[in-house]
Amino acid sequence: MQSLRIGVIGLGNMGAAHIKNHIPQVEGLTLTAVADMDESRLGNYDVPGFTTSKELIESGLVDTVLICTPHFDHTESGILALNHGLHTLLEKPISVHKADAERLLAADTGKVVFGAMFNQRTDPRYRRLRQLIQSGTLGSLQRIHWTITNWFRPEAYYKSGGWRATWAGEGGGVLLNQCPHNIDLYQWMFGVPTRITAVCGFGKFHEIEVEDSVTAIFEHGNGAVGVFETSTCELPGTNRLEVAGDLGRAVLEGDNLTLDLYPTSNREFSNTVQELFPWRKPDSTVETFSGNGDQHTGIIRNFVAAINGTEPLLAPAPEGIHSVEMANAMIWSGLERRAIELPMDAAGYAAVLKHLQTK
Ligand SMILES: NC(=O)c1ccc[n+]([C@@H]2O[C@H](COP(=O)([O-])OP(=O)(O)OC[C@H]3O[C@@H](n4cnc5c(N)ncnc54)[C@H](O)[C@@H]3O)[C@@H](O)[C@H]2O)c1
Repeated sequence: MQSLRIGVIGLGNMGAAHIKNHIPQVEGLTLTAVADMDESRLGNYDVPGFTTSKELIESGLVDTVLICTPHFDHTESGILALNHGLHTLLEKPISVHKADAERLLAADTGKVVFGAMFNQRTDPRYRRLRQLIQSGTLGSLQRIHWTITNWFRPEAYYKSGGWRATWAGEGGGVLLNQCPHNIDLYQWMFGVPTRITAVCGFGKFHEIEVEDSVTAIFEHGNGAVGVFETSTCELPGTNRLEVAGDLGRAVLEGDNLTLDLYPTSNREFSNTVQELFPWRKPDSTVETFSGNGDQHTGIIRNFVAAINGTEPLLAPAPEGIHSVEMANAMIWSGLERRAIELPMDAAGYAAVLKHLQTK
């Protein structure tokens, strides 16, 4: 196993947490440089510090970087790091909008490991549900319903950083900051929809200009329909994911995954049963999970293992374009009150966002 040097760019909440809690737990990885445009943050670390990502990337002091800056910078620092041949791990979302994500991914030559901090992919609940779907245990999917409203954030949170919850600084609200995890998990488990229709509340419950509450309908090419609801305005909030397929239903809430499964197709049953109001008793089980997996440490550990060639990358950054596009499509649909077809027009949405930023 090679010994790797990592530089962290962006020393706010997340960069500091990665340095304090996650990187030290990963064998073979040493922090050797930091960067933040706020010079006062550099002194907290016992390694060389730089005020720009470019200086860190070109310093010769690092083999890998972890980019934890505000969202618009992900594209710029990511391109610099990839062009410099550094293994690159990007905080979510990989970019603010699809056109930027395309620019970023164009810099990926495949010669370095390029990952994204989709830490919830390490959660055993979602890994199990994905495995059930991929193995066909639920049959062909009919319906998905994810209520993910336990992202409550107060006004003080939004006031804690000038870039937060603005079109110019963050490029969106709950869909760009909190939900990239859930949107990524959604597409990881169920695939990317072909049409998105959404109702968005822009500053509906907070003094912000971006979306803080969303209800979206995702239409899939295979006929499945998803409902995705999220909010930073609700207490106590809910995280409940229900998936119905031809062979039964899975409901994930809290630590429990409840499975109601049939050995044969419900469609076939519907076609052949002679009773007018029949019901079939499913085989019901509850699987209980403890802990949420290795989360951020797990992603960094896996990133290092991928560099060493001992594990496949769990969260490749190129897959991050899907959650960016789905978030963009929800916002666009909410603004214009119409359905957005996917793949969506990246340049068209970039122009819409630019207009919002200059209003
Ligand atoms: N994976 C997770 O669980 C998780 C959780 C929270 C935040 N995040 C993500 O982490 C990133 C950072 O969020 P945060 O809450 O730490 O933000 P923050 O505002 O606390 O920190 C951002 C830091 O970046 C610095 N910075 C800004 N622009 C810069 C530039 N161009 N070059 C160098 N430094 C720059 C700022 O001075 C600040 O110190 C975001 O992408 C956010 O979505 C991820």
